[in-house]
Amino acid sequence: MVATQSSREGWSSRSAFILAAVGSAVGLGNLWRFPAEAGTNGGGAFVIFYILCVVLIGLPSLLSEVLIGRHGQGSASESVVRVARDSGASEKWVVIGDIGMLVAFLILSFYSVLGGWVLNYIGVFAGDLVTSPFLGGAFQSWSDSEIEGLLPALLEDPVKLVALHAVFMAITIFFVARGVTKGIEFVATFMMPAFFLLFLAITIYGAFTGAFAETLDFLFTFEPEKLTGSVMLAGLGQAFFSLSLGSAIMITYGAYADRTTNLASTSAIIAGADTSVALIAGLCIFPIVFAAGFDVAAGPTLMFQTLPAAFSAIPVGSLVGLLFFVMVFFAALTSSVALLEAPVVWGVDRFGWQRQSTAIGIGLAIFILGTLAALSFNVLADWHPLGGMSLFANQGFFDVLDTFTAKVLLPVAALLTAIFTGWKIDKRLVRAESGLPDGLHKVWMFLIAYVCPVALAGIFIVGIVS
Ligand code: PFF
Repeated sequence: MVATQSSREGWSSRSAFILAAVGSAVGLGNLWRFPAEAGTNGGGAFVIFYILCVVLIGLPSLLSEVLIGRHGQGSASESVVRVARDSGASEKWVVIGDIGMLVAFLILSFYSVLGGWVLNYIGVFAGDLVTSPFLGGAFQSWSDSEIEGLLPALLEDPVKLVALHAVFMAITIFFVARGVTKGIEFVATFMMPAFFLLFLAITIYGAFTGAFAETLDFLFTFEPEKLTGSVMLAGLGQAFFSLSLGSAIMITYGAYADRTTNLASTSAIIAGADTSVALIAGLCIFPIVFAAGFDVAAGPTLMFQTLPAAFSAIPVGSLVGLLFFVMVFFAALTSSVALLEAPVVWGVDRFGWQRQSTAIGIGLAIFILGTLAALSFNVLADWHPLGGMSLFANQGFFDVLDTFTAKVLLPVAALLTAIFTGWKIDKRLVRAESGLPDGLHKVWMFLIAYVCPVALAGIFIVGIVS
C-alpha cells in the first residue's frame, strides 16, 4: 500500500523541518566520532579533507537527497521510484533507498550501544553530584585510575551494557512510535536549542583553561604527507556519516518538507550547522586532552575516557559533567530517532503496517543486532568477523559495523545518488525542485554529475587499496 500525499504528516513549519534535519545530522558523529577520527588519522590533513568533502561532495549530495524526498513524497525507496518513474528512468534505482534503509538499520544498532554509554555517564555524574562537594571537581574522593577505569569497567559488564542499550532503544522507539509531528518535532524543537547553548558554554570555558593553541595547531595545520588513501576515505566517511547522508534519512525527511521550502538554502543551513558543531567538538575536547596529556589517538574511547578526568579537575565539575552528558544524550536521541524513522516509514508505506507496531518490531530487530555489538567488548571480544580483510583487521563486531557503514556502504550509496541525480533524473524536474538561481544551479549540476562521481569512486578505491 502506498500512502498518498494527503495522508502523510508534514512538519508544522519550515523551521521545524530544519531543526529535525539538523537534529538528525548533529549527534554522536560530531561529538564522539569526529574527534576520535581526527585523533587517529593525525589531525589537520584529515580535518581539512573532511571539510573539503562536506563542501564539494556532501552539500551537493544533501541537496539531491532532500530533493528526491520532496518530489517523491514517500519512504526513501518509494521516493526514488517515483522520481525515476517521472523521469522515465529505470525503477531499479530503488536500490538507493534500499541501501539507505540498510545503512540506517546497521548504524542504529551500534549507535544505540553508544547511547547506552552516554546514559551510564549521566548516572555517574548525577550520583557524584549528590554525594560530593558542589564547588569542587567531580569525583573528589576517587583516584585517577578509578576515574580512568570508568569506561573499561562499563565495557567489561555485558549485562549493564546490554541493559543500557535496551533503555536507549526503548526511548528511541517511544518517540518514533508517536509520529513525526508529536515525537520528532518535540525532540528537535526543545532539545536542539538547549544543546547549542550548553555546548557553546563548555567550549568557551575550555578555551580559557585548556591547551587551546596546541589544539588549533593539531586540528588545522595541513601536512600533505599525512593525507594517505585511508585518511581520505576516513574523511569522506566522516562527512557522510555526520551529515546523515546515504542512509535514507535525508530523503525521508525531505518528503516532509512543503513546496515553499527552499531546499538549497535549507541544505546549506543543515551542512553549516553540522560541520560547525563537529569543529566546536574538536575545539572543546582536544584542549582538555592535551592539557591532561591523554593519547590523542585513543579512538572510540577518546570522548568517554578523557572528559570525565577533565571534569574532575574543574570547579563545579560534577554539574558541568552532568550537563555535558545530558546534552550529548539529546544530540544522540535526535539522531537515533531519525535512524529509526527511515526504516519505519519504509514498512508503513510499503506494507501498510501500523506505525506503532512497525517501530516496535524494527526497533526490536535493531536491539538484537546491537546486542552483538555490545557483547563484542566483552564476551565476544575474540570474534573478528571479516578479520581476513585488511579494512576490518582486528575489529570486533562493533567496529566492523561502523567501518562497513561509513567506509563502504555510505560511499556506494552516495555514488549511486550522484549518478542518479546528475544523469538520470529529468533535468526539468531537478531545475524545478532545486531552488537555486541559474548560475548556482549549473555549478551544483556540475558538482553532482562530474565531481562527485569521480571523487567518490576515486577516494573509495584509493582508500580500500591503501
Ligand atoms: N549524523 C548522525 C551523527 O553525526 O551522529 C548519525 C547519523 C544519523 C548517521 C542518521 C546516519 C543517519 F542516517
